[in-house]
Amino acid sequence: MKTLVILSSILGDRSNSKQLADHLIARVKESNPAAAIKVRDIGAQPIPYFDGNTAGALFTPPEARTIEQQRIVELSDTLVAELMEADRIVFAVPVYNFNLPAQFKSYLDHLARAGVTFRYTSEGVPEGLVKDKQVFVLTARGGKAEGTPSDTLTPYLRQMLAFLGMTDVTFVAAEGMAMGEVAALEGLAQARQRIDALLPVAGPASLAA
Ligand SMILES: Cc1cc2nc3c(=O)[nH]c(=O)nc-3n(C[C@H](O)[C@H](O)[C@H](O)COP(=O)(O)O)c2cc1C
Repeated sequence: MKTLVILSSILGDRSNSKQLADHLIARVKESNPAAAIKVRDIGAQPIPYFDGNTAGALFTPPEARTIEQQRIVELSDTLVAELMEADRIVFAVPVYNFNLPAQFKSYLDHLARAGVTFRYTSEGVPEGLVKDKQVFVLTARGGKAEGTPSDTLTPYLRQMLAFLGMTDVTFVAAEGMAMGEVAALEGLAQARQRIDALLPVAGPASLAA
């Protein structure tokens, strides 16, 4: 089983969503030390904004693309290919200004490609083409909003991922990261416990079986 991890915090090693991703990675490795895990950090190496040049490159037929347009499409192709190759996808997504980081939005913009990651059926209904993925979204936020209208990130991301075909999506939130040390530690501990429950490590009995 191949795991792809996308980190999107701007806070590097101080990132709480990265801490959750690191915990999940350790958990996966505990079950299978040889597990194939690819990590892409779009906080450290941002994806360029989806601007007019990007749209122009993607809409130009391959044989008519300039060198610059080929380079732009290559990045999108790489992001799509690594997503398609993965069986399990982990998105580590901080809440910035009530929603996902601009870096993560750019990433999604480069993934959403008609005929590649989604298509319209003959009835004009959209169909996601990124299928059969187990997806975890690990979020971190300063306050507490899970399950309330203030959580504007989860509904958007759930809809966007479903549009691309990812419907097996589990959200794990570390909340209260800016509400003092005790609340932050508690929020992280609860999120780690949820990850442990979602990814049980095979015990000696099952290994022997
Ligand atoms: C620029 C910025 C904007 C933020 N906006 C919000 C917000 O709208 N709501 C919230 O609850 N926390 C907000 N926070 C707090 C972060 O969600 C919190 O620090 C969280 O740990 C970020 O995840 P990260 O550590 O993985 O980067 C913000 C933090 C930053 C740096």
